[in-house]
Amino acid sequence: MFDPGFLWGAATSSYQIEGAVAEDGRGPSIWDTFAATPDAIQGGDTGAVAADHYHRFPGDVALMAGLGLRGYRFSLAWPRIQPTGSGAVNQRGLDFYRRLTDTLLDQGIQPWPTLYHWDLPQPLEDRGGWPARDTAERFAEYAALVHEALGDRVTHWTTLNEPWCSAFLGYATGRHAPGRREPAAAVRAAHHLLLGHGLAAEAIRGDDSHVGITLNLTHVTPVGTEPADLDAARRIDGMQNRLFLDPLLRGAYPDDVLADLREVTGFGHVHDGDLKRIGASLDHLGVNYYAPMLVGGSSTPTQSAYVGSPLVRVADGGRPRTAMGWEIDERGLLELLLRLKDDYPAVPLYITENGAAFDDVVEHDGVHDAHRVAYLDGHLRSCAQAIGHGVPLKGYFVWSLLDNFEWSFGYGPRFGIVHVDYATQHRTPKDSARWYAEVIRRGGL
Ligand code: FCB
Repeated sequence: MFDPGFLWGAATSSYQIEGAVAEDGRGPSIWDTFAATPDAIQGGDTGAVAADHYHRFPGDVALMAGLGLRGYRFSLAWPRIQPTGSGAVNQRGLDFYRRLTDTLLDQGIQPWPTLYHWDLPQPLEDRGGWPARDTAERFAEYAALVHEALGDRVTHWTTLNEPWCSAFLGYATGRHAPGRREPAAAVRAAHHLLLGHGLAAEAIRGDDSHVGITLNLTHVTPVGTEPADLDAARRIDGMQNRLFLDPLLRGAYPDDVLADLREVTGFGHVHDGDLKRIGASLDHLGVNYYAPMLVGGSSTPTQSAYVGSPLVRVADGGRPRTAMGWEIDERGLLELLLRLKDDYPAVPLYITENGAAFDDVVEHDGVHDAHRVAYLDGHLRSCAQAIGHGVPLKGYFVWSLLDNFEWSFGYGPRFGIVHVDYATQHRTPKDSARWYAEVIRRGGL
């Protein structure tokens, strides 16, 4: 069961909710550039206004307090703080996060900041982006600046959100900013993201500063027992989970994944000492879980985010799906948590994202999102079971507090437990918000 100190929270990210992209000295990010590219985002949507959280944060924090949230995971927009990605601090940008943090603390809500949730300053992309080693160094510098400003009020830091997405959706499939399709660059990006995390951890870690990273992990199973299916499962697990978990928790890349990736690139970009840094960096691990993956071998090569593994296919597990088309299976979360406990050195775990998009209907008396309640309830049951099995799970952040800009899908998918009317910016807590508030109040299910 959940102990009394369990951190019940909700999560958002800067570009998805803030808007105000040209205010108070914020520089352009790769997502501003990408969103302005024809056909990159459904409906031509952009984060220019989003949920207008930059102006409405006091009301949003009051809403969180009303729900009884104990923690709030948000991200800082690097281009607000260093508009060109390096050099002096833009104090007006930093002040926004000072005010947000203070407002949270006033309400007894623990600030849980993520330093990077994908909005890289455009000038750094112009100099090579994450495939360039220099970006890792710049990230550590930025982390130190933020830590200097907020280190007296923040105890738990997350460096990166989902480096897998930054690397492979950003630089291999081009579905995310900056929209490049260069598999070898994606592999370099993955390493430099991990290195940036390691360097940032060195810069900010201390007695009162605990450092973590958030990974999007999944539970992978093969469709059958054919060697090609087993190999597909090994490869996808390798790319999605072990490529990040092994360097972070064991200080080495997995040999089989390196061998798969040699089809794409050499590893000259991994310098002596990098893995030592990366492997010594974690005080806790953030896990984002949405859906399991069922995979099999394929005879037709496809280009996907799984570079170096063209002969794999994702199969249909036959389960109900969310509005994103993601299969609903809370069992996958339990399996994932047990696997982390069995295969890796113990480190406190936090679910930093879990949630679902559904086609919500606004009725005269609210938003009755029974599907979302069922999804969250099922996944929290898996969390409780995992804790029962000895998994050191310390907190849970629902994705998301607010409906928001869902990247290349624009404003279509709604993940919030609070509905946002984008025309009026009116917020309406959905049934799931009320349900979650009750779970928090009771300290469990
Ligand atoms: C995750 C992202 C988050 C949100 C959810 C649905 O991959 O971290 O920003 O888009 O998916």
